[in-house]
Amino acid sequence: MTRPPNSSFAAAAWSRRRLLRYAAGGSLGAIAVGLLRPRTVASAEPKLELLCSMFPQNSRCTDYLPGSQAIDETGEPIAVDALLPTATPGQPVPVRGLPDNQTTYLVIQTGPTIASYGIRPICTHWGCTVDWQADQNRFVCPCHDSQFDSEGRVLAGPAEEPLPLATVVVRQNRIGLVDRAPSVEPRQGL
Ligand code: FES
Repeated sequence: MTRPPNSSFAAAAWSRRRLLRYAAGGSLGAIAVGLLRPRTVASAEPKLELLCSMFPQNSRCTDYLPGSQAIDETGEPIAVDALLPTATPGQPVPVRGLPDNQTTYLVIQTGPTIASYGIRPICTHWGCTVDWQADQNRFVCPCHDSQFDSEGRVLAGPAEEPLPLATVVVRQNRIGLVDRAPSVEPRQGL
């Protein structure tokens, strides 16, 4: 440890230097803590978002709804207990909520329940938007008449590939939409 000098002038200068050093040290410490703490907290959410988007059934995702919430045509979040009593298995339900604001069709399965995937109505021929035709029980492309079943499998060309999928997660009466296909293709026969 350094000793204070003898003269009063030199002692005052020595005290100022010490004070400045402590002040600088304290400021740097505060800045370091400020930088580190928020980054630690903020970095947890993107990791959880990625984990739960890819593996919604992971035990860490029980209370986490990844993606964006499904909304109806008025912009209101859709409640599962309001939707299911009106849904019919095999009849896709159009919703919005993904960042591109385009429609995603929820797949309704026996139960009824909401499947863990939804249909993006983008024709795999040249990209036109396909429409669900309830009377024909299929998606039909207005451009060159490709047709797809209620889960997006090709029924008639010229399209050769099935309709793309989004991931759908149901948590606590809410529906999350993730603009990413499920890790494993869920449709049989593809
Ligand atoms: S773009 Fe759909 S059939 Fe051609």
